[in-house]
Amino acid sequence: MKITALNGFKDIVPGEVELWQRVETAARTIFSRFSFSEIRMPILEKTELFSRSIGESTDIVEKEMYTFVDKQITMRPEATASLLRAYIQHGLHVQKPIQRLFTIGPMFRHERPQKGRLRQFHQMDVEVIGAQNPRVDAELMAMGALLLEELGLTVSLELNSLGCPACRPDFRQALLAFLEDRHEALCDDCKRRCTSNPLRVLDCKNPSCRTLVEEAPSIQEHLCQGCSDHFGVVQEGLQQLGVPYSLNKFMVRGLDYYTRTTFEFITGDLGAQAAVGAGGRYDGLIEQLGGPKVPGIGFALGMERLVLLLQQQEGEEVAEGESDLFVAGLGEVATNFVFPLVHALRRKGLQVATDYEGRSLKSQMKQANKAGAKWVLIIGDTELEEGQAVLRDMQSQEQEKIRIGTGVDALLSLLLQAFEKKKISLEQ
Ligand code: HAM
Repeated sequence: MKITALNGFKDIVPGEVELWQRVETAARTIFSRFSFSEIRMPILEKTELFSRSIGESTDIVEKEMYTFVDKQITMRPEATASLLRAYIQHGLHVQKPIQRLFTIGPMFRHERPQKGRLRQFHQMDVEVIGAQNPRVDAELMAMGALLLEELGLTVSLELNSLGCPACRPDFRQALLAFLEDRHEALCDDCKRRCTSNPLRVLDCKNPSCRTLVEEAPSIQEHLCQGCSDHFGVVQEGLQQLGVPYSLNKFMVRGLDYYTRTTFEFITGDLGAQAAVGAGGRYDGLIEQLGGPKVPGIGFALGMERLVLLLQQQEGEEVAEGESDLFVAGLGEVATNFVFPLVHALRRKGLQVATDYEGRSLKSQMKQANKAGAKWVLIIGDTELEEGQAVLRDMQSQEQEKIRIGTGVDALLSLLLQAFEKKKISLEQ
């Protein structure tokens, strides 16, 4: 019987991996324009790191973590907690008062797998640690928007503020008072949430809860002066940077560490998995994890969802890696000559493909096409005896004879000359 990958775990195969590379390259380019440095953390962490940061009563910690119970270790369900753990452990705040860090890699959550929702998924996560200024919040969202724009994706930005430990209890009270009268109409999960985490009732997906909370008090109207001023400048900043956004008073996020600014990049093209990225400010979290008293803000983009959007936009067929040259050897002597030649050409930096099975010219030309070769060098036993080979331009279908037989180095320089000539003549 065949062994297949686990449910919710996926291979990324050639034809698709090219899109992943494109997403990652675009992200690295944009992140470096905004002065972010890369950091890489291990996949396994102590379980307590996540229960202390994400929150004991969140879905992630309650139901979705891959935890080895006998060892008290967990496969990271997100990057923020691990990144902050590393920041604290290495005393990065001492080196620079503001750290701008990014990381790219797999995360693990035991969720019900569906399109755009996996158990092993990948995030591109950025964090700015040490900056309190609301302009940083606006700039970070602008960076996310710019990256999505560079990828050619149309995504909207939704914004909220969750206040701080000073004003949130007041809002929590107002919300609880509102929910108390309507308790019977809530779904079972929300009935439970009223005691554990009432804010989560606001983003329940159950249609009857959704209608019910429409009239609920808005957190934006319960912000203290500090949070309200901060939220105002964030919005001004977004306007200054020309980033469109809309306010969403129901967005509370599924992780407990947020304070003030929270946001999500939303698409209408992926059904229920509408968030391609999300983040926010977490001003108390670093201290809570045993670090210095510094604020932070960040977001993560879900790579599977970005790739799905690109596939929908461009069709499933994506060109696989191309080769500069395919070398076709015909006959035993020629094949023997081709083997070290291909290696020598690769050492010189050319992308070279070849056949290893002594196939016919027709079949090798097919392989050359599949490999996306720009040129094919055809070497047969007879040609080799005459010191010649044929170089074929796959685009124009033109062929020319080139001299070989004076050793690999001489042939190499002849080939490079021929490519150069072609490039020049193509440009003309
Ligand atoms: P999150 O909202 O849990 O936030 O995840 C961020 C993004 O990761 C989501 O918007 C989605 O695109 C993607 N994602 C999450 N779960 C899955 C899944 N099961 N399958 C596929 N994609 C998924 C965080 O993780 C925070 N750490 C973000 C953050 C960074 N906040 C501050 N800094």
